[in-house]
Amino acid sequence: MNHPAMQGLNLNAPSYVRNARLIAWVADMAALCKPDTVYWCDGSEAEYQRLCQQLVDAGTFTKLNEAKRPNSFLAQSDPTDVARVEDRTYICSANKEDAGPTNNWMDPAQMRATLAPLFDGCMQGRTMYVVPFSMGPLGSPIAHIGIELSDSPYVAVNMKIMTRMGKPVFDVLGVNGEFVPCVHTVGAPLAAGEKDVKWPCNKTKYIVHYPETREIWSYGSGYGGNALLGKKCFALRIASNMGRDEGWLAEHMLILGVTNPQGKKYHVAAAFPSACGKTNFSMLVPPAGFDGWKVTTIGDDIAWIKPGSDGKLYAINPEAGYFGVAPGTNFHTNPNCMASLDKNVIFTNVALTDDGDVWWEGMEKDSGSLPAHLIDWQGKDWTPQIAKDTGAKAAHPNARFTVAAINNPALDSAWDDPKGVAIDAFIFGGRRSTTVPLVTEARNWVEGVYMAATMGSETTAAATGQAGVVRRDPFAMLPFAGYNMSDYFQHWLNMGKKLAATGAALPKIYTTNWFRKGADGKFVWPGYGENMRVLKWMIDRIEGTGKGSEHLTGVSPAYEDLNWTGLDFSAEQFNTVTSIDKAAWVKELELHAELFKQLEHHLPKELGETKAAIERRLAA
Ligand code: GTP
Ligand code: SPV
Ligand code: MN
Repeated sequence: MNHPAMQGLNLNAPSYVRNARLIAWVADMAALCKPDTVYWCDGSEAEYQRLCQQLVDAGTFTKLNEAKRPNSFLAQSDPTDVARVEDRTYICSANKEDAGPTNNWMDPAQMRATLAPLFDGCMQGRTMYVVPFSMGPLGSPIAHIGIELSDSPYVAVNMKIMTRMGKPVFDVLGVNGEFVPCVHTVGAPLAAGEKDVKWPCNKTKYIVHYPETREIWSYGSGYGGNALLGKKCFALRIASNMGRDEGWLAEHMLILGVTNPQGKKYHVAAAFPSACGKTNFSMLVPPAGFDGWKVTTIGDDIAWIKPGSDGKLYAINPEAGYFGVAPGTNFHTNPNCMASLDKNVIFTNVALTDDGDVWWEGMEKDSGSLPAHLIDWQGKDWTPQIAKDTGAKAAHPNARFTVAAINNPALDSAWDDPKGVAIDAFIFGGRRSTTVPLVTEARNWVEGVYMAATMGSETTAAATGQAGVVRRDPFAMLPFAGYNMSDYFQHWLNMGKKLAATGAALPKIYTTNWFRKGADGKFVWPGYGENMRVLKWMIDRIEGTGKGSEHLTGVSPAYEDLNWTGLDFSAEQFNTVTSIDKAAWVKELELHAELFKQLEHHLPKELGETKAAIERRLAA
């Protein structure tokens, strides 16, 4: 059918789809976007294979060597569509102040008027995929359903891995069930007979959220968080609004279980900004000196956290897969991740080896040498000499893998338990080459909220724009909080008060920094598995046996308070990653002041008081 008038377009809704609101919405969106056909995903394995083959035929996917990387594919994107676009991401609340000064805002009516002509006919010549998904275990009381309409089969297959996607979602939805409508287009309609490109997208991009009506509209990008709308758009930006209204938290956090040699298990949720180590930490392999310790993964990117009737906080991972950073991952830094990637993977923007496998920067640490020849992420020849001469990277720094959680050998047995796991500690960790010490324990909930709220981090390749610039990234949620950041701080303070009122012990709050650099510009802390030494100290503190001393911003361990068995790390090196430079902190506090000035409206007064207390200590 060519460019049908809507009257001519068959919706093809399967008989098991009984939700009238859903069918009406799909009809409206099809009338607007004017796809050639509508296809309802059932989430079956056969469908996945069919769509992958279709992507191979279209040139979007390269099938990898079946002997080396079974059932796996490589996609190489348009070079202009490689990361989240924060400057094109909008929170369109009715009132500007509800989006707050850290979000882009446009009046919802004005945004709708802006998007209407862009979406009109945007799917011409393409198929509209109806992608039903559940964030959280299907049918569980904490799960929420979304339906993504997308003209990208790449999105459909990624959503199959990243979420519980398919026909059972319609059963849960039933006749009257609620869902978050998510519309996505690459913004590249095809004229009759026009040949498609391998990665269609549009240089105009809009990633739009209407928090009041809980809608997501995404235009122009096929990449990651811009296009897989269950992830940042739904599970963070829309869900943070749900959480504020309903008394829970939607956070940019990994969740891990850590079991000591006596078999006692703890659960930790950690917020690190994008590309700052969540996937790595969630799959940590304890190093020498930690016999009998075990770390297991519940989630690597997003946590939904709800208070239980016992006053504890219970966390679930709403996702079902990992969309993780490839470069830097190897058997030394993250063996569990490498094992997760041995089959059934979609790689995006890594390099292709001559024998049909994948490669990215960091893998040379495993093999001991660089490959002699590759096809880089842009489809060009790559050799070590070319890299030396031009600095060309084989893989894009934000190259990613998409893989199901069940591929992870360190997967926690409770990873999809709808009850969630009780959180014992929160960690907030930025990427800072100076100033911020390796680990600090907040003296109380408010001090912890302060440290999280004022966290700074160097920007990474996960978002377009300049990398390596220090910016404030409160709670690692700067690009993801779906409402006013000061109100979000208040929500965290309120949660603390509510939990404290039950008499239960609040989770402890820590800040970490794995990224301090020495005079030579290199990371001093070995990081990765060695982060276990810091994690163990936190657990000692929870048990009341860990030693530490108070300073400017909380409590930190001395050299002798950590277990150093199996690692050659001197007291002097330790000092380099833990010392507190008063002059640097005077400057740091000026940046906190700048942030608080920006967030003045509704800024909780406790945060100003905590800042004043730090300033008094600094002046003493
Ligand atoms: P998003 O998926 O973007 O939210 O990121 P993430 O926080 O899951 O990041 P990930 O674990 O994928 O880490 C990305 C980058 O951080 C890679 O380049 C890693 O090599 C590096 N990294 C992770 N952990 C450490 C660490 O302990 N020390 C150092 N120096 N680098 C680390
Ligand atoms: C991040 O940028 O924090 C990610 C990757 O986890 S994306 O899904 O592209 O947002
Ligand atoms: Mn993330």
